[in-house]
Amino acid sequence: MAQVHLRKVTRENFRECLNLQVTELQKGWVAANTQSLAEAYVDPNLFPLGVYDAAACGYEQPEVPMIGFTMYELAAGVGFIMRLMIDEKYQGQGYGRATVLEVVRRLKLHPDVESSRLVVEKGMK
Ligand SMILES: CC(C)(COP(=O)(O)OP(=O)(O)OC[C@H]1O[C@@H](n2cnc3c(N)ncnc32)[C@H](O)[C@@H]1OP(=O)(O)O)[C@@H](O)C(=O)NCCC(=O)NCCS
Repeated sequence: MAQVHLRKVTRENFRECLNLQVTELQKGWVAANTQSLAEAYVDPNLFPLGVYDAAACGYEQPEVPMIGFTMYELAAGVGFIMRLMIDEKYQGQGYGRATVLEVVRRLKLHPDVESSRLVVEKGMK
């Protein structure tokens, strides 16, 4: 089963984050990562994270590429998973599911979070 490692988006890895791509069809379902990072820059309640295979865990400079991006919001006791994307090259291998599980695990550990929600666009399959 795929497992992921989530890591803050920083000066070191933000370019990788901007280069991640979804398919043409999927572009309408998730905001571009540039927009998400801009939103996070002005809103301290937003937490943008790069998604890596779990092989990156424990390494200061991961030797494996960033494969996706997720961002959650903490607001009034609720943890919202606002954004989730896995690069088209790495889709269909269980990383999307593993990312949701890992974000929910983190939200459950947060003392201010009473429930978690996932935001989805109408029309998604
Ligand atoms: C949604 C997304 C994150 C899934 O990532 P992924 O790594 O391919 O997903 P997984 O491999 O973990 O698959 C998870 C489940 O979704 C299903 N799935 C994956 N891609 C699918 C597709 N294109 N159509 C239908 N089902 C799909 C898988 O079959 C799997 O279900 P199962 O475990 O019951 O078989 C990815 O397709 C993506 O980045 N999409 C574009 C952005 C988006 O729509 N984000 C969500 C809204 S913010």
